[in-house]
Amino acid sequence: MKRIGVLTSGGDAPGMNAAIRAVVRTGIYNKMEVYGIKRGFEGLIDGEIMEMTVDSVSDIIQRGGTILQTARSERFQTPEGFKRALDMMQNFELEGLVIIGGDGSLHGGLELSQAGVPIMGLPGTIDNDLSYTDFTLGFDTAVNTALNAIGNIRDTSSSHGRTTVVEVMGRNCGDIALYAGLAGGAETVLIPEETVDIHLVCRNLIQRRNRGKLHSIIIRAEGVEMTSDELANVIQDRTGLETKVVVLGYIQRGGSPTARDRILASMMGYQAVQLLLQDSSSKAIGIRGSEIVDIELEKALQMERKVDSCTVRLAEMLSI
Ligand code: F6P
Repeated sequence: MKRIGVLTSGGDAPGMNAAIRAVVRTGIYNKMEVYGIKRGFEGLIDGEIMEMTVDSVSDIIQRGGTILQTARSERFQTPEGFKRALDMMQNFELEGLVIIGGDGSLHGGLELSQAGVPIMGLPGTIDNDLSYTDFTLGFDTAVNTALNAIGNIRDTSSSHGRTTVVEVMGRNCGDIALYAGLAGGAETVLIPEETVDIHLVCRNLIQRRNRGKLHSIIIRAEGVEMTSDELANVIQDRTGLETKVVVLGYIQRGGSPTARDRILASMMGYQAVQLLLQDSSSKAIGIRGSEIVDIELEKALQMERKVDSCTVRLAEMLSI
């Protein structure tokens, strides 16, 4: 394989740039031509495709976001858009494609692969919601960003003796909430994978208050059915404790990637190009334990996601 493309798609995630850099440099090191495709599948459909050089990825390993930009493409879901994307692959004589993105983006990759394009999928999403890999690119940075914010919120909550509901991202996955909650010593962590027992939440708050603890941090993952405002209102009504809401929002998606995300991105980007060089079938690249793994793309996307119940119980136990 001599000419490959790389694109980022879906929500941006810290570490995407480090992954692009690894793909481009591994490709060039191995005498390939590497083409960067702008704005994900949108740019593929529109032919926004440019050759990358060693220097075009200089000074980006430390930057959040994605230099290739990203999009959620509705046109790619249409037969016309999909055909145009395939045509562009042929127009530019691209023999393989590295897709850095979340679940939706890798499913888009699977469709291309079923149409004959060799695809390597890298898990680029802060949500950590891809079952085939222990960790996705950007998750560690997002957790650390949330953790810093929780530290600041704890200062003011403790000074005022308030309860604060902190809403974090993650779509239908509670991992950002769980990890940030565990690392930040949150009093309660609410995730979509578990049923919320509002009576228990209120009872714990009152029992802590009775022990002299006047402030509490409740981390709520955005996928939890009860909204943050509803939760705060119910808590205030049932306990009489002043309760505020902080939605962390998009700050979790930006920022310089942690060392862990940069290293993971570098290893996964390298692995993707190595597999393309070996003319491998389409794969999803991930990490299991401390090992970089590659799994047949279709199989990887069919795997069922299981919540890490040991970590859930640990967070509960340590927050008594
Ligand atoms: O998938 C990443 C993510 O940030 C989710 O956590 C969140 O639900 C969603 O994207 C927000 O999407 P958008 O950028 O389209 O508002």
